[in-house]
Amino acid sequence: MRIDVLALFPEVFEPFLASSIVGRAVEGGIVSVGCVNIRDFAHDKHRSVDDRPFGGGPGMVLMCGPVFEALERVEAQREGEPVRILLTPQGERLTQSVVAELAGQPWLVILCGHYEGFDERIRTGINVREISVGDYVLSGGEPAAVVLIDAVVRLLPGALGDEGSAASDSFAEGMLEYPQYTRPRAFRGMKVPDVLLSGDHGKIASWRQEQAVKRTLERRPDLTDEAGSSRQGKT
Ligand code: ADE
Repeated sequence: MRIDVLALFPEVFEPFLASSIVGRAVEGGIVSVGCVNIRDFAHDKHRSVDDRPFGGGPGMVLMCGPVFEALERVEAQREGEPVRILLTPQGERLTQSVVAELAGQPWLVILCGHYEGFDERIRTGINVREISVGDYVLSGGEPAAVVLIDAVVRLLPGALGDEGSAASDSFAEGMLEYPQYTRPRAFRGMKVPDVLLSGDHGKIASWRQEQAVKRTLERRPDLTDEAGSSRQGKT
């Protein structure tokens, strides 16, 4: 997979792209990521990328010119058409099923905004999928891009050491994950459930399934509603 990120603070991505599972995937050639500074496409000597909103009001708005030109430059470097993503709190919510859909694409171009927002013509003049990572406002799209890239890359074949792990993640089956334990068997009076030490794989699997259902019903009953309605094709 190829991912290109257009941002005003591309340096944010450096440590992230060099660490942990994403770092290993980059190193292993499972994904390649390019970061472009939108400011490099500014038109004046002050390298301005934002301006005051027409009609007045607080804050600054990201201008069309540098964004369109950065995008055109990035897209001219490769064959085909990417899936373009605009990160914004006004977009559709990033869920595990959106993540899985994106993980099946060969090329993503991610646009991170800053300031009060984008000139509306960035939304309307480019064929973009608008995505939000949650109902809160970040100072910029960079942390949202980190979230999206992390969630997508861990689903790419070979990105996780243990191929089973992504399948048992929370949300993978529309449910939260079951509780996990490791050594020691007892810690400060808290014991590992006997069933996990029984060696009976059938019993362990049904205990985990029960726990996942219980936990999901207690904490996120909305997920079971969603899973039920998408199974019936209603989404
Ligand atoms: N930019 C600012 N807030 C955001 C959010 N919640 N999701 C995606 N991009 C954002």
